Amino acid sequence: MCGIVCAVGAMESSSFLLAGLKTLEYRGYDSAGLAVLDASGALRRSRAKGRVAELEARVAEENVSGQVGIAHTRWATHGVPEERNAHPHVSGELAVVHNGIIENYAELKAQLEALGYVFVSDTDTETIAHLVQACLSGASAFVGEQKVPCADLFVAVRCAVSHLEGAYALAVVREGEPESLVVAREGSPLMLGVGAQGHYAASDASALLSVTNRMIYLENGDVGRLTRDAVELVDARGDRVEREVVTSHLSADSVELGQYRHYMQKEIFEQPQALGNTLEMLSGAGRLQPGIFGARAEAVFAEVDSVLILACGTSSYAGNTARYWVEQLAGLPCNVEIASEYRYRASVANPRQLVVVISQSGETADTLAALHHAKSLGHRHTLAICNVPESAIVRETALCFITRAGPEIGVASTKAFTTQLAALFLLTLLLAKGHGRLMGQGAGDGADNACEQDLLDELRHLPVAVEKVLALEPEIEAWAQRFSDKHHALFLGRGRHYPIAQEGALKLKEISYIHAEAYPAGELKHGPLALVDGQMPVVVIAPNDELLEKLKANMQEVSARGGELFVFADGDSRVETSDGVNVLKMPEHYGLLSPVLHVVAQQLLAYHVALVKGTDVDKPRNLAKSVTVE
Ligand code: G6P
Repeated sequence: MCGIVCAVGAMESSSFLLAGLKTLEYRGYDSAGLAVLDASGALRRSRAKGRVAELEARVAEENVSGQVGIAHTRWATHGVPEERNAHPHVSGELAVVHNGIIENYAELKAQLEALGYVFVSDTDTETIAHLVQACLSGASAFVGEQKVPCADLFVAVRCAVSHLEGAYALAVVREGEPESLVVAREGSPLMLGVGAQGHYAASDASALLSVTNRMIYLENGDVGRLTRDAVELVDARGDRVEREVVTSHLSADSVELGQYRHYMQKEIFEQPQALGNTLEMLSGAGRLQPGIFGARAEAVFAEVDSVLILACGTSSYAGNTARYWVEQLAGLPCNVEIASEYRYRASVANPRQLVVVISQSGETADTLAALHHAKSLGHRHTLAICNVPESAIVRETALCFITRAGPEIGVASTKAFTTQLAALFLLTLLLAKGHGRLMGQGAGDGADNACEQDLLDELRHLPVAVEKVLALEPEIEAWAQRFSDKHHALFLGRGRHYPIAQEGALKLKEISYIHAEAYPAGELKHGPLALVDGQMPVVVIAPNDELLEKLKANMQEVSARGGELFVFADGDSRVETSDGVNVLKMPEHYGLLSPVLHVVAQQLLAYHVALVKGTDVDKPRNLAKSVTVE
């Protein structure tokens, strides 16, 4: 979703800003723009609908350059993706870029129009530009009792944000203040970069790594003035504050494409490494320690009587999978709710419940709001499973586990999902242990009283097992050709593989634009069977588990109606290829952790179908990587 990059430094900024915007392309966007203060201190702006490459051409054509600048990729919310709605928005001599949604923009707009401000876009952001301008010029409706113009841009932005409701990360430059820019943050992510030759700001660290790895993470309510040599910050109360400078361990290489054709492909193939990194604490004969979730985890895990998982998108399917593990191994009731629904539902809080929020980015607005809602209802035990250590969600939960997937750039989540599953399995084992449900070595029967060491060994083996699934790529690629003329697909799974069918369908629809639906296979005859014909491929996830025979009966129901089956079966499933039944044998049967292997095959299928369809795999239309607005 919208991305911001800003610079105030010694070097010419527009090429840095454009490179930063390219790094943020993965967040999803449909137009881009930048504004700089040129050598004479004049404001110069370029904007373009479409890709950053189009903006780059425009910037070159218009010869826009300067040492202070703000830049933006816009993912349309208010107003269609047209140049007139692209950021920066200007009011008089100032320009603003913004990520987030201003909820009271309609009221503010009416007030500003009454003062004579003319709006030329459909965005909520233009309201901010005029509001800052109104504060600078002392509009009494906004400057309060003092009724005098705000002295400078820093003061004016502080005044303006006091009138905003909603979420924002924003940056402002102004003619006449050619050596500084002002930033503010509430809800949406924004961080500062401290470089040798200047100061920078961006929505995520990857855009700044070419100039610095020293970051300052702004808190909600912070407003800052950046100059080449200094950062001046005030907090939500207007008090001067210093924020810690943190060294980011991201490397510029980790966000490079390397030998791969797409980030999604790279990230699918990085999964053995990502899982190995996430499970590093299990290397050697190490036993499982609750401390990996935080200092108080042991006491909390023993006290909780149930689990509530809150998440969106792919992360919610990780939660759905974990529900099967938690109830089976830990014996605790476990519910999973879509964060955007939970936050608006009247629900009954249980202070002994463990609230688990799962998020790759740690910035998803609905997940963050659901966490706030849970806390406001009196939930005391909160835990984040997240891939970004400095994110809002991590900062706002009592316990956390950081997955070590590394930066995920492809919009369709892959390695974040499998590392979330690994983390959730660890959590399950610790909950089981805390409730006396794990047995010593050799005593496990895989059901109620599983053996800790056996399960840890299976976890340790996961990277190797995933490698073997990746080796199936050529066969999956051949299957993908068969989807080239299809418009719909059905995904079937049962038990803990039903969420994998959901994730497989999500992957396919996100990147190939084929309409895909997932069903628990037992529900087939209650509706979706009506859709089955030769034009509707039916993808089946068929592990050799306790439900396999039932699943085979469901497959018969499809075959009997002329449907074509694409079955991912475990090697020992005794499902064979026949007329209308295509079978791909997975390398090994993997018990409780089998969803982690099966989902990798689903990712490869979606990726290769998207290649056949010729879609923009890493930046699917209309979607964003990090959804920082509601
Ligand atoms: C967006 C992304 C998905 C992701 C979801 C939740 O929709 O495109 O890939 O699963 O947000 O994101 P989170 O960062 O909270 O896991």
